[in-house]
Amino acid sequence: MLVMGIESTCDETACSIVQNGKNILSNVISTQIDLHREYGGVVPELACRRHIDLMIPIIDKALEDAKCSLQDIDLFAVARGPGLIGPLLIGLTAAKTLAFATSKPLIGINHVEAHIYASMMDCGPIEFPALGVVISGGHTSLVLIHAIGSYEQISQTVDDAIGEAFDKVAKMLGLPYPGGPEIEKLAKDGNSKSFPFKPGHVKGKPNFFSFSGLKTAVMYTLKGQNAKDVIQEPLSHRIQCDIAASFQHTALMDVVEKTLAVANTYHCKHILFGGGVSNNQHLRELMKARGQGLSIHWPPQGLSLDNAAMIAGLGYHRFQQTLVSDPMNLEALTRIPF
Ligand code: KG4
Ligand code: ZN
Repeated sequence: MLVMGIESTCDETACSIVQNGKNILSNVISTQIDLHREYGGVVPELACRRHIDLMIPIIDKALEDAKCSLQDIDLFAVARGPGLIGPLLIGLTAAKTLAFATSKPLIGINHVEAHIYASMMDCGPIEFPALGVVISGGHTSLVLIHAIGSYEQISQTVDDAIGEAFDKVAKMLGLPYPGGPEIEKLAKDGNSKSFPFKPGHVKGKPNFFSFSGLKTAVMYTLKGQNAKDVIQEPLSHRIQCDIAASFQHTALMDVVEKTLAVANTYHCKHILFGGGVSNNQHLRELMKARGQGLSIHWPPQGLSLDNAAMIAGLGYHRFQQTLVSDPMNLEALTRIPF
């Protein structure tokens, strides 16, 4: 079964063709990072305009790379949320139009669920219950996976998502958007023990996340307690590296500790990471060192950040489970609870 996936929840326009949920025939992603960089974050209206310009060329390229035609596609899968409403509507409209024109079924996919599925795309059988760890620019959640399509959210962030915290701290350090990879680069030359930052605790909810206190601690370190004494001189490279390393280590250790605690409580042997922050090599090293005895799965190359292969892959399974096409009035959802 050939599934075309379409992704446009935020600032990536993507289309991919996947056979039987795993075999990726094409995976075309156009990122808008350059467009949004000067604003330090995603500007929704600009994102919409770029999605409109690129959607059809990206779909054409995905068909060309997969060496197939529109008539060969058996199912259209589209990310219906969570995400920015304008960008979502563009992907949904494209997918509905293609499904209608070819008389093929359509399925709406939860983008966060797809991030978890990405780690299953090139691995052997998963033992359930498994634990999904979604760490991206918009989400930080621990999700118990009973089966593909059956989830129980155990915890989430009460304020910033972890990727968002990386992006904001990077901005404070004068680094470009997106900040995650920039922080990781600087942290390689820094000492993670230089600044005694503390992970966030949520009262009464030990496995929930909070990154706003950590972010504020970095700001106080840079600007002083009243946050007004802006450092005049440019930060020395050494201080930048040490702050990056200390922040990164604190934020990632928090994810590692809570992941291991929840995996232990729910007897999960398999852990599946998803989302842009799972690209971080320091996180992978920490999990390798701390998660012995567990099977830890990372998204394959090209599937950590937003992509449409994970949408097409999960679309295949969701359609097999129901064999029902979503209606043409399928709606975009900016938020989707698990
Ligand atoms: O999954 P994604 O592409 O988009 C969302 O669904 O949000 O994730 C983007 C986020 C950004 O916040 C970016 O800074 C972060 O992932 N990120 C990283 C790394 N690569 C991307 N954070 C830490 N370390 C990285 N290597
Ligand atoms: Zn995402």
